[in-house]
Amino acid sequence: MIVCQTIEALRLERAKIVGAVGFVPTMGYLHEGHLELVRRAAAENDAVVVSIFVNPTQFGPNEDFSAYPRDLERDLAMLSAFPELIVFTPSAEAMYPQDFQTYVQVERLSQGLEGERRPGHFRGVATVVAKLFNIVQPQRAYFGQKDAQQLAVIRQMVRDLAFPIAIVGVPTVRAADGLALSSRNSYLTPEERAAAPVLYRALCAARARYEAGERDAEALRATMRAVLEAEPLAQVDYVSVAEAETLRECEGTLSGAVLLSMAVRIGRARLIDNLTLGTDRHFC
Ligand code: PAF
Repeated sequence: MIVCQTIEALRLERAKIVGAVGFVPTMGYLHEGHLELVRRAAAENDAVVVSIFVNPTQFGPNEDFSAYPRDLERDLAMLSAFPELIVFTPSAEAMYPQDFQTYVQVERLSQGLEGERRPGHFRGVATVVAKLFNIVQPQRAYFGQKDAQQLAVIRQMVRDLAFPIAIVGVPTVRAADGLALSSRNSYLTPEERAAAPVLYRALCAARARYEAGERDAEALRATMRAVLEAEPLAQVDYVSVAEAETLRECEGTLSGAVLLSMAVRIGRARLIDNLTLGTDRHFC
């Protein structure tokens, strides 16, 4: 494993690679979900670059940037299982030097769902990912489906700006009780952790109604809300039934693929989860 702390060092190592590069951008505090992205990238490419950078521009002023869990030693130990990996750990000064003034804004797809509750979030994500793509120059890049809107925004950016990169969405990795793995799960107390699978239960309840023939968007939202509201530790931020492609909120009778999604606060953690219905594949 080679660790590159600067853009220059990464470029030197990148230049030595013959063949396809798979890229896994992360904010560190790795878990099995990240390792699954690395496994996929390793299986499909000749070399893999993993970046670890807690990106300040995707956090709002009242969000958890300073509290976000960080442990580089632990991350590197987890990645040491992979041979021939390049780990890129740039500084904030390298990614956002003084007088930085160029941002990438994916207009419509960034507006609803997480974008509505976290103004500026996807501008920060698209900007840092575009810069990382320019530095790493991968052939493929790997993102988890847990962040469904992020994945849609990145796919749109890559299409719009003609990045020669294939974006690979990787199914959400869950704990045995259904909780989607997330670095923010580390905020949960044991009691909150026991309550947290309520998100997946709510998604599964809506899926069961859909599979039983329910096609009314509001009925599915009500099903998810009812399950979430029965959990005293859960504070619902939003539940959504949206068109899977456009992420526009569905009204009335559903047709085509839909994305069920939600954000729920449990203690200090704001957790998100989703599930896609109406396609051949169920992402859960
Ligand atoms: O999904 C994440 O961890 C981050 O949003 C990403 C893609 C690494 C950009 O900072």
